[in-house]
Amino acid sequence: MLMRLLRALVLLVLALVVAGAVTIWYIQRNGFSARAKPGPIETAVALRLRSFTIPSAGMEHFADHCAVCHANDGSGSTEIGGGLYPKPPDLKQERTQSLTDGELFHIIQNGVRFTGMPAFAGDDEEKDEKPADKEGHGEQDSWRLVLFVRHLPKITPAELTAMKKLNPKAPDEMAEQPGHAEPKRPAGPAHKHGRS
Ligand code: HEC
Repeated sequence: MLMRLLRALVLLVLALVVAGAVTIWYIQRNGFSARAKPGPIETAVALRLRSFTIPSAGMEHFADHCAVCHANDGSGSTEIGGGLYPKPPDLKQERTQSLTDGELFHIIQNGVRFTGMPAFAGDDEEKDEKPADKEGHGEQDSWRLVLFVRHLPKITPAELTAMKKLNPKAPDEMAEQPGHAEPKRPAGPAHKHGRS
């Protein structure tokens, strides 16, 4: 047992030394110039990493605060969205995508008067004091949402599945989770919306 552990450790150290040597050799040979053209593997990894990190913050926020009306895919086909006048437009379409980044930012920050679209600015100062507070909505969040709205036309089924888990839970579902005990509603006829 001890021998096997030792052997694994020696192998690991060896692998690290070799990786280190190769890295040093590579850097000495090619330098750290940003002008060099990255190879296909480096490009693929970097692009994958980049798209992995950018929209996810906006995605979480959208699933949490916007999807009730706009739906995870931005189509607007939700129970609440369908009951609003004017209805939330399909954010993937030209009408929204042709807006500039600044216009999108302004709409998210300030809302649209006389419609269901709320203003999300306002928690900024609070957020500066408590940057770790994920509940607030700061300007940064709005810019992330702009990026996410831009990403909507290319959203993948895998991303939509991930978003489902981030959507706010209905009170009954919350009650089933520890730490979220909600007072039980009085028993009555089942409460249903919409045609059935
Ligand atoms: C209570 C429902 C509701 C919520 C929540 C909501 N929206 Fe909206 N949103 C609307 C409605 C309704 C409109 C259409 C307003 C209009 O017709 O000008 C709209 C419009 C928009 C538009 C402009 C689209 C266009 O083409 O005119 C953007 C962008 C947008 N919402 C983004 C968001 C984001 C991002 C969030 C979350 C931070 C959010 N909305 C939350 C209801 C909502």
